[in-house]
Amino acid sequence: MQVTVRVPAKINIALRVGPPRADGFHDLATLFHAVSMYDELTVCDDDSVRQADGDAGASLRGANGYQALGASSPAIPHEVTLELEGPYSSGVPADGSNLAVRAVRALAEEAGVPGRAALRVRKGIPVAGGLAGGSADAAGALLACNTLWGLGWPVERLSQVAAALGSDVPFSVVGGTALGTGRGERLEPVRAERELHWVLAVADGELSTPAVYRRLDELRGQPGPSARSSSAVEPPAMDPRLVAAVERGDAQAVGSLMVNDMQAAALDLRPGLSETLAAGRDAGALGGIVSGSGPTCVFLARNGTHAAAVVQALTASGTCRTAQAVVGPV
Ligand code: C5P
Repeated sequence: MQVTVRVPAKINIALRVGPPRADGFHDLATLFHAVSMYDELTVCDDDSVRQADGDAGASLRGANGYQALGASSPAIPHEVTLELEGPYSSGVPADGSNLAVRAVRALAEEAGVPGRAALRVRKGIPVAGGLAGGSADAAGALLACNTLWGLGWPVERLSQVAAALGSDVPFSVVGGTALGTGRGERLEPVRAERELHWVLAVADGELSTPAVYRRLDELRGQPGPSARSSSAVEPPAMDPRLVAAVERGDAQAVGSLMVNDMQAAALDLRPGLSETLAAGRDAGALGGIVSGSGPTCVFLARNGTHAAAVVQALTASGTCRTAQAVVGPV
């Protein structure tokens, strides 16, 4: 049997970040929004899995190619193989640290079933780009294995496994538009009436999410999480006007209210991104911010025609690797 799922990238229309918590995470008030850029993930339990090497540290057959990833628990045999393909596959970990592989194993552990799965991931979402590409793969693996193994778990139960894998994974399981609090794992759906037209400007290279959070704390003069000092940084709060604007599909208002507290840190680490933001603004985008921890930048266009014009202007500006028009929510 084979199951294929398409999982979208996410942007944060708003990302408000509080001070560091004692556990090293930051409380967030964020507006997650899934957009039409996808990874495609296929899982199957065919003979290739049963024949796969079950020993830990099994051989890698070609860079980013097929790999047999060994058992992690003596009690429950896990035989997971991973094959990566697609435009953004280079740089994706192809070993047991891959988030999709960890998701398969985590679900198998929770469900008490053998984690048998051959995974094929077609990467259409850039790696470490602020678009939750890794989280999308983990979410896809949970959804696909839920079907492959006949578990029939509801989304709420899958979301618990998802939250243990990463702060963005629960949103990637549900998609659409949602308010996120806690470290991003607590979700409340937002009903968006109309489609919004976005442009993603993908940058060369990656930014590490923990490094951007660290830089943000430094820029804010925050001590490390272990200091537990009283903090001058306000708890994060969502602007209700932005939520209302997204609900009624008011692109003009959304453009003027979209905001990312991590942007200053991302720009500090990658100053060239300010040129990308300027190029999008010059092209008449209604708003433009760094997506999540970056380095992708996201712009809001008036409509599909305008989005195509913004793509053209960004491409001509030479300030990004590639620009792509997408819609949301999906
Ligand atoms: O949850 P996730 O594995 O995606 O987080 C990666 C890292 O990003 C965390 O280890 C932490 O350093 C940082 N993070 C954070 N606050 C959040 C989410 C992530 O500080 N709300």
